[in-house]
Amino acid sequence: MPIAMRVNGRPTTVDVPADMPLLWVLRDVLDLVGTKYGCGVAQCGACTVHLNGGAVRACATPVSAAAGKDVTTIEGLSPDGTHPLQRAWEALDVPQCGYCQAGQIMQAAALLKRTPRPTDAQIEGAMNGNLCRCTTYLRIREAIKQAAGTTPPASASPTPATRTSRAGE
Ligand code: FES
Ligand code: FES
Repeated sequence: MPIAMRVNGRPTTVDVPADMPLLWVLRDVLDLVGTKYGCGVAQCGACTVHLNGGAVRACATPVSAAAGKDVTTIEGLSPDGTHPLQRAWEALDVPQCGYCQAGQIMQAAALLKRTPRPTDAQIEGAMNGNLCRCTTYLRIREAIKQAAGTTPPASASPTPATRTSRAGE
């Protein structure tokens, strides 16, 4: 059954069963493999993408639910990997194995979209369904705060040596 949607800003039509999980469509049909399969039952957050700007679990979302809507994956969060969250993730060296991290970033991006300067409690509430087997939770929380501008980006600052070399460019 043809289903039309916009994926990362591009009009996209897929001809798949209406009940196929959006995750399979993204990964196996559209080759957008940044979105990961963890549990398959909406319990881990590894497959988190945006549907019309809100975070959803793609493993538990039938593709028919995306018809006529905007789907955003980690590949489309920013054109060049410079979303404030991606910069903060890099600056704070958040990932360990990395498997959960696309889902973590997409969940956090949906939070910052509706709550640009979240409190610790709001961050906790939004993120507590995204699991990380490597327990990078503290760095994830710090990176969200850094991206939101609620903590200074100290860890992202260049070292004095780097500053000197940049000043001479
Ligand atoms: S794979 Fe979708 S929530 Fe775990
Ligand atoms: S970084 Fe390994 S599961 Fe999160």
